[in-house]
Amino acid sequence: MSSSTVITNIATLVTNDPSRHGDSPLGLVRDAAVVIEGDRIAWTGASSKAPATDKRVDAGGRAVLPGFVDSHSHLVFAGDRTEEFNARMSGRPYSAGGIRTTVAATRAATDAELEANLTRLLAEALRQGTTTFETKSGYGLTVGDEARALRLAARHTDEVTFLGAHIVAPEYAEDPAGYVALVTGEMLDACAPHARWIDVFCEQGAFDGDQARAILTAGKERGLHPRVHANQLSYGPGVQLAVELDAASADHCTHLTDADVDALAGGRTVATLLPGAEFSTRAQWPDARRLLDAGATVALSTDCNPGSSFTSSMPFCIALAVREMGMTPDEAVWSATAGGARALRRTDIGHLAVGARADLTLLDAPSHVHLAYRPGVPLVSGVWRAGVRVV
Ligand code: NIG
Ligand code: FE
Repeated sequence: MSSSTVITNIATLVTNDPSRHGDSPLGLVRDAAVVIEGDRIAWTGASSKAPATDKRVDAGGRAVLPGFVDSHSHLVFAGDRTEEFNARMSGRPYSAGGIRTTVAATRAATDAELEANLTRLLAEALRQGTTTFETKSGYGLTVGDEARALRLAARHTDEVTFLGAHIVAPEYAEDPAGYVALVTGEMLDACAPHARWIDVFCEQGAFDGDQARAILTAGKERGLHPRVHANQLSYGPGVQLAVELDAASADHCTHLTDADVDALAGGRTVATLLPGAEFSTRAQWPDARRLLDAGATVALSTDCNPGSSFTSSMPFCIALAVREMGMTPDEAVWSATAGGARALRRTDIGHLAVGARADLTLLDAPSHVHLAYRPGVPLVSGVWRAGVRVV
């Protein structure tokens, strides 16, 4: 029989299980306890009613919430773009072109170098409470380099995304149609076995609506599920294409028409907002309030990448979303946990209902609101992943 642990004396427990606990979406329990059995949640409720278990952990009047679900990152890369960031902070605009710098460095790196960088970033994210992450290829842009990125990523997560259509590979600068043919042909053949998702950067300077549709449709035919980098730098067809293809997520959603908002509100596609990107590119903030008020499902994620958002911190994204994007602290915490799970179409994570995977974050604070109230402070003081304490 698997061993059981009770965490008691929790001042605020976020379960995201409103059917069992109260009427707010966070399913809050005060003076709470949670029981972990093996890798699953076995019980949640009042601390005074907690059942006996093999092991007991005293949370000391602090807050516990589901581990963060970071549903959008680009962690397989090499090289450094400090100078690009520095120049941007002196006034140079962000463009998709910077991706080429990372492509050159990534192609030149050994597998060991790429994996060391990936492992370092994952450890960094874990210390900040991230227990599930999605990550993408997209800095290889050859058949071999894209497949290699996905193989390396798949050693660390099930949520692997083929993003051969990040930009047109430099070798195909004069022949974008040839590159789309490669991505939907030989590259897809080599990459599909290693990935769950397919993504396209649908943007001026990257791929237009027709190209994005061709790539996502080809991916679907190979059993990959779509997600889309949509409407980041300008208005465009990305969001509506994502909804039309029943993509799990339309990511960025910075420049939205009313029709885009209506489409997101009317479909199953989650609007994943990435405030680290707007912070690091000094761009207009996405309007989370407008999406929430329309009834869309919103996720928050880091977009961790060396160019537009070099942060692995979900707490930082929560603080930005509250301060700059019109979200309440409750909404931001939901979006960084349950919202991320929706964006990955996962029902086993992002909440602490009985039977969920035991992924929990213990804060050195009495409530989840402190994630926004105390920006920049390292509040995560404990992390359990699949029932095992890892921080
Ligand atoms: O999500 N938008 C496209 N891709 C990344 C940026 C990648 C880069 O600049 O290296 C993003 O922001
Ligand atoms: Fe991205």
